[in-house]
Amino acid sequence: MKAPSIGTLAFGAVGFTAIALIAIGAPHDRPPPTPIESRSPPPAPSSASAGGFTLVSQSVDLPDEDATYPDGPHADVINANCTSCHSASMALTQPVLSEDQWKATVAKMRDTYHAPVPASAVADIIAYLTAMPSQKVGQSNGASKSPGEPMTEDKSGGTG
Ligand code: HEC
Repeated sequence: MKAPSIGTLAFGAVGFTAIALIAIGAPHDRPPPTPIESRSPPPAPSSASAGGFTLVSQSVDLPDEDATYPDGPHADVINANCTSCHSASMALTQPVLSEDQWKATVAKMRDTYHAPVPASAVADIIAYLTAMPSQKVGQSNGASKSPGEPMTEDKSGGTG
């Protein structure tokens, strides 16, 4: 009788391994994963109490009085042309500026920032800006340290 060749032994080993793996089978005896719904937290309560404090969810209306220009002559014109990019507070918090400085500001809005302001609206806008209560000399609007001083170029690039 002839001894089995190396090839026969190797084939037998592979065959045995395959049979063993089939016998073990797929791991279907693992516990099923927890369903997603039972893992998600319960909906947030509208109020929660702890340690003598009660926290209550509330919807909040943010103040919007600085978003548009207050009523006055030509307020409709400036609100129609000057509130699309930034709120009115950008102009309302400026230090007291001369009419020429306001003209330069509006020109900058149109030329540099491409504000779609028709030329026919510019005079009304300047009239509104120079008549704003915050532009009255002697009234502090919080933005002007010394209202009489000529405006210096803002190099910071950001006015808030
Ligand atoms: C196309 C967008 C756009 C429109 C429309 C626009 N602005 Fe501006 N405005 C800007 C930008 C951008 C700045 C600079 C913001 C910054 O520096 O943070 C600015 C800044 C300002 C400032 C701050 C001072 C300064 O010189 O930077 C004032 C005042 C102002 N705008 C007034 C106006 C007025 C008045 C109008 C209407 C004529 C107007 N803006 C319309 C884009 C616009």
